[in-house]
Amino acid sequence: MHIVNELAHVLYQTLDGKLTEEKIQQMIEKPKYEHLGDYSFPCFELAKILRKSPNVIAPEIANEMQSPIISHTEIVGGYVNIFLQQEVIATSVLTSILQEKESYGTGSSGNDKVVTIDLSSPNIAKPFSMGHLRSTVIGNSLALLAEKQGFQAVRINHLGDWGTQFGKLIVAYKKWGKEEIVRENPIQELLKLYVQFHEEAETAPSLEDEARAWFKKLENGDKEALELWEWFRHESWQEFLKIYDILGIKFDSNDGEAFYNDKMDRVVKLLEEKSLLKESDGAQVVELEDLPPCLIKKSDGTTLYATRDLAAALYRQETYEFDQSLYVVGNEQSLHFKQVYKVLEKMGYDWHSGLKHIPFGMMLKDGKKMSTRKGKVVLLESVLKEAMELALTNIEEKNPGLVNKEAVAKQVGTGAVIFHDLKNYRLHDIEFSLEDMLKFEGETGPYLQYTHARASSLLRKGNFEPEGDASHHLPEAWQVIIQLYAFPEVVARAWSEYDPSQVAKYLMELARAFNKFYGSVRILDDTKWMQARITVVFAVTVVLKEGLRLLGMTAPLEM
Ligand code: ARG
Repeated sequence: MHIVNELAHVLYQTLDGKLTEEKIQQMIEKPKYEHLGDYSFPCFELAKILRKSPNVIAPEIANEMQSPIISHTEIVGGYVNIFLQQEVIATSVLTSILQEKESYGTGSSGNDKVVTIDLSSPNIAKPFSMGHLRSTVIGNSLALLAEKQGFQAVRINHLGDWGTQFGKLIVAYKKWGKEEIVRENPIQELLKLYVQFHEEAETAPSLEDEARAWFKKLENGDKEALELWEWFRHESWQEFLKIYDILGIKFDSNDGEAFYNDKMDRVVKLLEEKSLLKESDGAQVVELEDLPPCLIKKSDGTTLYATRDLAAALYRQETYEFDQSLYVVGNEQSLHFKQVYKVLEKMGYDWHSGLKHIPFGMMLKDGKKMSTRKGKVVLLESVLKEAMELALTNIEEKNPGLVNKEAVAKQVGTGAVIFHDLKNYRLHDIEFSLEDMLKFEGETGPYLQYTHARASSLLRKGNFEPEGDASHHLPEAWQVIIQLYAFPEVVARAWSEYDPSQVAKYLMELARAFNKFYGSVRILDDTKWMQARITVVFAVTVVLKEGLRLLGMTAPLEM
């Protein structure tokens, strides 16, 4: 059991059920200063219930609390400050890590059930945006966290490869595009055409009609339209692959929106059978009680984003029999997912309760939203490349003799970009800043990777044997031990709250505690403490590496 849970349980028994165990768990605090104790329980709320002074209650509780993990308590101003049995805890946590290595912190709540994760899902013929990067790294981390809890994660890249934008693109390409130029630099050129379309359409609205007509042709299987579409799709996919390759991300499925083209009639039919389809201004909709109606078919007969998502949900349930189905998509699409999930509920599928939109905030540039239409985007591939170059420059400066410099620079550069995203709670907007991402000190990925490399080099120098004696009394490493002890709890909560930032923040705390420990004692000093201290260092490398892996990052041994 984890410390806070265990303390809450002990307090619950001491208090004879006057507060629930859950409530107590929330009330337990970490004191501001280490010398005040490891945890602390405020007695003010209990004082109100019992109509007694907190100063009277605190010593009563302190006297009755009994647990093998508690060493002693102190009373300070209405608080019971709790000091833990350091040696008991240190021995238990270090023994676990030595035995389990990277499996430390693995949970079993998943029980082999399936979680599908809809992630990344960029739009074909447009650049891979920062928003899609957010979806990619958050989704990938959630998949890794799910697997850590024993779920089977299915990563689905629901590519935006169908829709009215292809009508626009075909019109623009036919009017202003040149084949050789597009072939040379597909994403950039297609984006230019897309931007030009929107500029010209402002003064020539008939362009929009032409675009609609071309999309209709595409939906009807027109040969020329299909060929162009396939070409755009192919070129874009090749570009996206480069990015996935750099990030080290693979998908179990890349079935995008077009995959559902022949699966939508069935949805429409099912909706008709269940008498859910209503006509509204020539369009087909499903009316919803507290939400705007969900559009299923437009008046011109063309289908919609929502229809494809309905078909996709059915397909995923039938194919994977998921227990949960996550959609890692920006919070501007909240209404869309509410509508889609509601329609599935109305259709009578009990599995609708496993569908979850995992929204995230925007990536801002100078406080403003980045928009593809106006061409104001930062190209992700160049961001990643720049990050790797900067990492290389840093390495050349700090460690010119390092072998595999290029490979390490790739790990560090991508790590910087991933961590810059995941250290923030996902719903917060993030200011895009190359400079911040690439700082190698402070709250950054490279700082964590560097800490790992530093610890690893100590292990090499100390010729560490992991089978060492794991019984320890190491007051100087206590803050590190407490962090190590918390790891299983943190990863379990990060999963259940779909929040990788909890792992990111945790790793920062662990690295800080470790660096303090590292700075305060000479670890390789040949005293009788050396083996115990080096065991702590080993445990730190294991947990740092595993924590970084759960964020989708790697931990170089040297940098
Ligand atoms: N391609 C969409 C976009 O960029 C995201 C797709 C998300 N997934 C889904 N099943 N709707 O806006």
